[in-house]
Amino acid sequence: MDLVQEPGGAPSKSEIRSYFDPAEGTLDRRVFADQEIYDLEMRNIFARAWNFMCHESQIPNPGDYFINYIGEDQVIVVRDRKGEVQVLLNTCRHRGNALCRAEQGNAKSFVCSYHGWNYDLNGDLIGVPGMTAYYRKDFDKSQWGLARAAQVDHLHGFYFATLDPDTPPLPDYLGEVGRIGLGLLAANGPVEIVDGIQKNVIDCNWKIAVDNLFDWYHVQYSHASAGMAGFMDIAAILHPKHQMVMFGDYGHAISGPVITPERQAEIDAMTDDERLAIAAAGMLKDPSKPVVPPRLSAARELLGPTGVRCMGHPNIFPNLWISTNGTQLSLRLPRGPFATEIWWFTVLPKALPEEVKKKQIAFSAHLFGPAGMLEQDDGENWSQSTRASRGVKARSYRHHMAMGLGQDEVLTDATGTSRVETTISEHAQRWLYTNWMNWLTADDWAELKANHPALPKGRV
Ligand code: FES
Ligand SMILES: [Fe+2]
Repeated sequence: MDLVQEPGGAPSKSEIRSYFDPAEGTLDRRVFADQEIYDLEMRNIFARAWNFMCHESQIPNPGDYFINYIGEDQVIVVRDRKGEVQVLLNTCRHRGNALCRAEQGNAKSFVCSYHGWNYDLNGDLIGVPGMTAYYRKDFDKSQWGLARAAQVDHLHGFYFATLDPDTPPLPDYLGEVGRIGLGLLAANGPVEIVDGIQKNVIDCNWKIAVDNLFDWYHVQYSHASAGMAGFMDIAAILHPKHQMVMFGDYGHAISGPVITPERQAEIDAMTDDERLAIAAAGMLKDPSKPVVPPRLSAARELLGPTGVRCMGHPNIFPNLWISTNGTQLSLRLPRGPFATEIWWFTVLPKALPEEVKKKQIAFSAHLFGPAGMLEQDDGENWSQSTRASRGVKARSYRHHMAMGLGQDEVLTDATGTSRVETTISEHAQRWLYTNWMNWLTADDWAELKANHPALPKGRV
């Protein structure tokens, strides 16, 4: 029996480089099952990357906070008294207790429930019970404030944080593909994230859930039930012959349907009122045309000539998925090799009438999330794929990820993006794992910046 798993110890760099074979398009299943690989992911990917925290609309006032994660580090994202957004580790400096137990809310300060240490909204330690009687004043509070993220920044009000001071500035990290991804959320004007983040745990490895967001191969088959139930017209969404994959630095990518240049020219000739009339009339029924209403004219400047045609799913590496028409975004939060916490945020243009907002919120809840028509199908498949990676024999068989390999020519545009326009493919998944290996084997950001895979050119 050809066993690939050697027990114990962190994998060497050469082992890691064998996990995905980009020339063959195959993936070693142990990437879904090994604790050592997971631990490396926490250190070399999540602690180094820019991680999505929340939108400014979730924390508008001083004291407003939202709890999120950077890998396994739980953080408090809070607006301080000066109006600045702080990202503080939710762990008391005394014995490590979690300070904040609610998922979001408003606080005057953060008081630890164990011995009562009290921290200001900016993380400074401002109160210690027994300072005179027990510590006898031999204690320097200024040295024991909460740990902070190394950098915090935002684009269109979407806040990100990183634990690594050497991570490149957010705009450089996002690059053109990351900017298009976040731009899709802002393409129809200022937005808000509404209350009620849908959260559930699926017993799958986080990468299976990320791979899936690029995967338009499963839609027709896995989600046939959503079509049969009359929930959506799969054929109208899929456009299997009009698909685009955009490759971004550090592993960002967008994969899925694309508006043809001819149809985009028709949209470009419309006034915004004509576009809004199409939106008001409901989704387009002609399967040769995009199902999502045309974006407003300002979107072209925001998204660029190629981004404006994008109807696919962006992933901002490692784990932020933005839905096709920018109405939902999702985090795939790792919880060990065998579990992923899935969070769904609903994003709405502020200018929408309240009645339309209500309908959109209901539609989002029925689409993705624990009660969604689509994610119930997906979750079952991801669980079973992960489960099968644990078997001694089963894990010796590599995943096939070679659809379209060597079949497509890379195109570019004036903004320097790298893309293919083709049929349904697995180019984005191969780009994901090529970059994933690079993150895991880089010692630090200096190496990542110098050696990250160049955007593809020529035939892919
Ligand atoms: S653990 Fe927080 S005050 Fe002791
Ligand atoms: Fe799906």
